[in-house]
Amino acid sequence: MASKHILVIPGDGIGQEVTEVSKQVVEAIGQKFGHAFSFDYALIGHAAIEATGQPLPEETIEKSKASDAILFGAVGHPKYDNDPSAKVRPEQGLLGIRKALGLYANLRPIKLFDELLEASSIKAEILRGADILFFRELTGDIYFGEKGRQDEGATAYDIAKYSKYEVERIARKAFEAARTRNGKLCSVDKANVLETSRLWREVVQEIAKEYPDVTVEHQFVDSAAMLLIKDPRRFDVVLTANLFGDILTDEASQIAGSMGMLASASIGDTVGLYEPIHGSAHDITGKGVANPLASVLSAALMLDISFGMKEESEAIIAAVDGVLKDGFRTGDIADAQTDRAKILGTEAMGAELLKRI
Ligand code: NAI
Ligand code: MG
Repeated sequence: MASKHILVIPGDGIGQEVTEVSKQVVEAIGQKFGHAFSFDYALIGHAAIEATGQPLPEETIEKSKASDAILFGAVGHPKYDNDPSAKVRPEQGLLGIRKALGLYANLRPIKLFDELLEASSIKAEILRGADILFFRELTGDIYFGEKGRQDEGATAYDIAKYSKYEVERIARKAFEAARTRNGKLCSVDKANVLETSRLWREVVQEIAKEYPDVTVEHQFVDSAAMLLIKDPRRFDVVLTANLFGDILTDEASQIAGSMGMLASASIGDTVGLYEPIHGSAHDITGKGVANPLASVLSAALMLDISFGMKEESEAIIAAVDGVLKDGFRTGDIADAQTDRAKILGTEAMGAELLKRI
C-alpha cells in the first residue's frame, strides 16, 4: 500500500469547484486500489491576497515542498483583469510557485475522447484516436535570455539560450514517458537554422542512446506545426523548447475541443504540480456548471507521473470515458444532439465519475 501526501491548492473562481471533484476522485481511487492518500490545503492567488496580503504565502511554499504532489486549481479575479497596473496580482502566485519548486517541464496531454469528436473544428476521421503528450521546456529559451533595445529604441533583441543541462533534464523526462507509452518520441526543433536547436538535437541524440527501446524522430517546428493538424495520430510524445512548445501546444489544444477537457502537469526534480489548462472563469464561478474533467484528468496525470500509478490513472480516464459514452455532458461540451436531461453541473458530473470508479 502506497501512502502519498497531496497538497490541494484550489486557488480562485472555478478552481475551487473543480478541484473539490478531483480530490474526491483521488480519494475514491485510494479506496479502490488500497492507497493511503492524505490531503492538506493551501492558499494562492486572490484567495491568498484576501487572507494574507500575499499571492503566494510562505506557508504555501513550505507545504508544497513537504508534499508528494500538488493538485492545483486556477488563479485570477476580475478585479485585477480590469486593473493591469495592480502591483500585487494573483498570477504572481502561480509563477512564484513554479519558480520556487523548480518546475522546468510542462506536460500537456492532448487526448480526444471519441464522444467529443464532433466538438472539434477538425474532421473526425483525422482526429479519431489522437493521443499526444507534449513536453515543453519551461525555464530557458528566448523567454529568459538577455533582452533589450539599441539605437535609441529602434532595434530590439531577445537572446535565445539553452544549456546542455537544461536540455538533458527535460529530454530524460520525455524519454521516460515515451517508455511508459508507445516507445515513440518526436523532438521538435529548428536545427537547420538555430544554434540552440543544434545543441538541442545533439543532446537529444545523446540521451536517446540511453533509451534504445524508444524510437526517436526529429522534426523541424514549421513542418511539425503542419503535421499536427494534418495527421495528429503520427505523434505520441513530443519534446520541444519553450517558445516552440508555447505555440504548438496552443495549436494542439484545438485537437481536444473544449478548455474544460485539458489537463497539464508541471514537473521538476521534486514535487509535481497538476492543473487544468483553463483559468478561474469568473463568468461561470459560483453557478456550479464548471466542467471538472480537465481537473480530474490532471489528477490522473498526477497518479501516473508523480506516483507511478498507471493502472489507477487509467481507471480515472476510463471513468471519464464512461460518463461521456453514457451521454453525460457539462454545458461547455454539450451540443444540439445532447439529451437535455444529461447536461450536468459540476457536482453531478463528479458523482457520475465516482459511481464508475
Ligand atoms: P478561462 O480559462 O478562465 O475561461 C475562458 C472561457 O472558457 C470562459 O468562458 C469560461 O467560462 C470557459 N471555461 C473555462 N474553463 C471551463 C470549465 N472547466 N468548464 C466550463 N467552461 C470553462 O480564461 P479567461 O476567462 O481568459 O480568464 C479568467 C481568469 O482566469 C483571469 O483572471 C485570468 O487571468 C485567469 N487565468 C488563470 C489561469 C491559471 O490559473 N492557470 C490560466 C488562464 C487564465
Ligand atoms: Mg501561450
